[in-house]
Amino acid sequence: MRRSLVVANWKMHGSLNDNNHWIKNFKSSDLKQLTNTDIVICPSYPYLAQLQQSLLGQQNSHIFLGTQDVSSFANGAYTGQVSLSMIKDFSVNYVILGHSERRALCFEDDKLVADKAKAVMAGGLNPIVCLGETLEERETNKTHQVIKRQLQAVLDSVKSEDNLSNLVIAYEPVWAIGTGLNATAEQAQEVHRTIREQLTSVLSAELAANIRVIYGGSVKPNNAQELFNQPDIDGGLIGGASLDAGLFLEICTAATGRK
Ligand code: 13P
Repeated sequence: MRRSLVVANWKMHGSLNDNNHWIKNFKSSDLKQLTNTDIVICPSYPYLAQLQQSLLGQQNSHIFLGTQDVSSFANGAYTGQVSLSMIKDFSVNYVILGHSERRALCFEDDKLVADKAKAVMAGGLNPIVCLGETLEERETNKTHQVIKRQLQAVLDSVKSEDNLSNLVIAYEPVWAIGTGLNATAEQAQEVHRTIREQLTSVLSAELAANIRVIYGGSVKPNNAQELFNQPDIDGGLIGGASLDAGLFLEICTAATGRK
């Protein structure tokens, strides 16, 4: 079985104070019970140092830091952008890419997301590439077509199979994000299965079987277990519920107990 993975995407939330509270609550629980789950926290860039200092450590080797994006450029005159080498200075291991909010609000297209994924993998970090259809696309039966196109762009851009073992895919139906309307376990599993099939058709069987595919979109403690028990769902990408350390820990516990 692939290792469970639960990712907190804090989006543009947090402050030094709020984060300190969160960290205190998070660390007050028995994190050792969650050692068979990889847990990734993705704050906004200014708080990476705070989390690096207070959360990472030898006794928490299953806890990682991530970012919500990264520049596709290595360095130079790119005002406002943050490079891969900069986030590596803060022990970042994971990078969320192609979140639907960035695709919609920052006009990121499949090619840019694929280029970033390639750069992140070449840099030895784990990209978490988000795929997902809008409500209109679902209602006009285009879900599989959209997911396939978004995933194929990434697979086409990365030529070397060596790097691909770091890849994580997140299926996040746009209509389920922040709406309280999660995909049912069956709906999510159906898309995850087709993602796995696409990976298998392009990559070696072993590599395709090892890539983790997680679900995001209104995951809460009351629906996490059912979602995570699906055979092709390896964990979750959590927005709103990740802002509360207690709720987030309940979701991590569900991933740890997945069947
Ligand atoms: P919610 O969990 O708030 O629906 O957000 C999901 C998400 O976008 C995580 O990246």
